[in-house]
Amino acid sequence: MTDAAQMIFDRLLPPPGPPQAAQARAPGNIALAKYWGKRDPALNLPCNSSLSVSLRDWGSITRVAPAPDRQDAVWLNGERLPGTSPFAMKALAFAGRFRRGLDAPLHIRTTNTIPTAAGLASSASGFAALTKALCAAFGADLDPAGQSQLARIGSGSACRSLWHGFVRWDRGRAPDGADSHGYPLPDIWPGFRIAVIPVDIGPKAHPSRAGMNRTVATSPLYASWPERAEADCADVRAAIEARDLRTLGETAEANALAMHATMLAARPALIYLKPQTWVVLETLWRARADGLVAYATMDAGANVKLIFLENAARDVQAAFPPARVIAPFDPP
Ligand code: DP6
Repeated sequence: MTDAAQMIFDRLLPPPGPPQAAQARAPGNIALAKYWGKRDPALNLPCNSSLSVSLRDWGSITRVAPAPDRQDAVWLNGERLPGTSPFAMKALAFAGRFRRGLDAPLHIRTTNTIPTAAGLASSASGFAALTKALCAAFGADLDPAGQSQLARIGSGSACRSLWHGFVRWDRGRAPDGADSHGYPLPDIWPGFRIAVIPVDIGPKAHPSRAGMNRTVATSPLYASWPERAEADCADVRAAIEARDLRTLGETAEANALAMHATMLAARPALIYLKPQTWVVLETLWRARADGLVAYATMDAGANVKLIFLENAARDVQAAFPPARVIAPFDPP
């Protein structure tokens, strides 16, 4: 392989040698200012910067080891996957970028610690944990920013899952993506809370990758997105620094709805939100009119994530009994 993505692995990794067994874990993340649209799909270089909060112990644990039976194989949550499974194929193709032709069959075992009932996709934590495990297995002593560049090639949002807390992914300018990776923000906000409200826990009708590419290619509203999204990302960053939940929440909610508006205008339309999503949103907006300080965000799926402070947790739980509350800054 001598594609553009492989050249980045070749630049960042030492020459391939026999792998060791290694294990790593990485948290999932929720974007408060979304990544939506690529300026370079082969390298997952985004059209705009994004900013997320990591989900503490909700994430992935991945173990990579030389295959004693000399056969590549992948397990997900304890179940051995058929070679035709998309997850297995993606994981092995990614491992191939580290092996670079070396005859070193691997066993890859991933366990997701995100409850399935929460309906959250795990590609971000999965690729981040796989990147860390493969770097350790192949003796690559990369700093987290370097690991983030590699994880980004697996899945864009994975480049933000190398850290806990708030993480910003700068869009960068370099054609090879050397300046397009996550970095952690120093802000620790112990009272910050996220709640996941599951609406639809089944597999998505449209994977986010295809949805993103279709939106960029066909949505007449997409032209307005990159500049607005960049400004939202800066506003979210400033609101975190000022510990201003209201500005953060209003910006994050508007940013998510604007992203969904670009999808609605795609041809054919991409609609990830379900009727129940709107029921949750209307319940939230009514509660907010009555004084609840909580805001919503949705990714390329129907589930709703709420943003609020610890002192609203009881009211959030009362208004949304299925809500699963995460305290991102609690010790693991
Ligand atoms: C809506 O990172 O899954 O969740 O780079 O194609 O793998 P690929 O896409 P992915 O897209 C995530 C999109 C999003 C917004 C976000 O997490 O910032």
